[in-house]
Amino acid sequence: MEFNEDIEKQFFEKIKNIKDLSELKKIEIEYLGKKGIVQELYKKIKDLPEEKRKEFGEKVNNLRNIIESSIESTKAQLESSLADLKLSSEKIDVTLPGLHFQRGSIHVLTKVIEEVKSIFVSMGFDVFSGPDIEDDYYNFEALNIPEHHPARDMQDTFYLAQKILLRTQTSPMQIRIMKKLKPPIRMIAIGRCYRRDALDSSHSPQFHQVEGLVVDKGISFANLKATLSEFSKKMFGENTRIRFTPSYFPFVEPGSETSISCVICGGKGCPVCKYTGFLEMGGSGMVHPNVLRNVGIDPDEFQGFAFGWGIERIAMVKYGIPDIRYFYQNDLRFLKQF
Ligand code: PHE
Repeated sequence: MEFNEDIEKQFFEKIKNIKDLSELKKIEIEYLGKKGIVQELYKKIKDLPEEKRKEFGEKVNNLRNIIESSIESTKAQLESSLADLKLSSEKIDVTLPGLHFQRGSIHVLTKVIEEVKSIFVSMGFDVFSGPDIEDDYYNFEALNIPEHHPARDMQDTFYLAQKILLRTQTSPMQIRIMKKLKPPIRMIAIGRCYRRDALDSSHSPQFHQVEGLVVDKGISFANLKATLSEFSKKMFGENTRIRFTPSYFPFVEPGSETSISCVICGGKGCPVCKYTGFLEMGGSGMVHPNVLRNVGIDPDEFQGFAFGWGIERIAMVKYGIPDIRYFYQNDLRFLKQF
């Protein structure tokens, strides 16, 4: 085979239209491979007459250099356009709207519980919490509600064993704390309570209460009134007034139902307060001497007051929530409002 200028021409013809690296590889093998065109040309050298060998060899060297460098540059071109293609297909449009995370928020009951706590803490109260599963003794017996007492009727509950029950009120915390601490005592306890109540707009078999207890020398009903009045002003607004109506709870004497002036009409009467001007919040009264005796405190030396208000009730009045069931349904349209 003579050296032929056409080899170079053909090579450039082929490489001109190359589209991808695998095609290029084929051409590289065809020309530069062990059995490729260039190698074949080198093999020819030994068959040439002495005087032509040098010139022929130089031509082949030259051809090989041209082919090598043009394959290299074509390869670089293909690679960079591939990279461009990749980049343009993967580019990020920073103006597109992002993915939104659903941000949670504090449940309204938790929020109210925290607010109740901080108001009472500001008045010097300690905060305690006790068990949801109670002993009959703490929930009833020690609170002056013996077995067969009719007051138990209103507080039927879920029994886990014979005298082990889900507490119907936070009042057992009065007993637990008085048994543990010596007066002066100034505490609140907030937590879940359970009763055999059907679920409707104002009842739930599970709800929350805040219990308050103060025991010291010379405590009177005036202290109870001042405390709840102060709390109500801070919770519901400066103009809130408080009303006590005689009521019966076996563990207080005297006992009362406690109401606040209606947050909507201020006491004039409106549909929210059913034209009474007041909204009931819970029970309160002076700790019964029998209860003090049950925990070993001398009622002639110490007196106390106690109250138990509904957390849901406080939240409903404060935020104008018409139905207790909203608290437990986990409906985001409701929860997002707080
Ligand atoms: N524990 C009572 C109830 O749940 C409320 C109450 C508490 C009444 C403290 C008086 C004193 O009905």
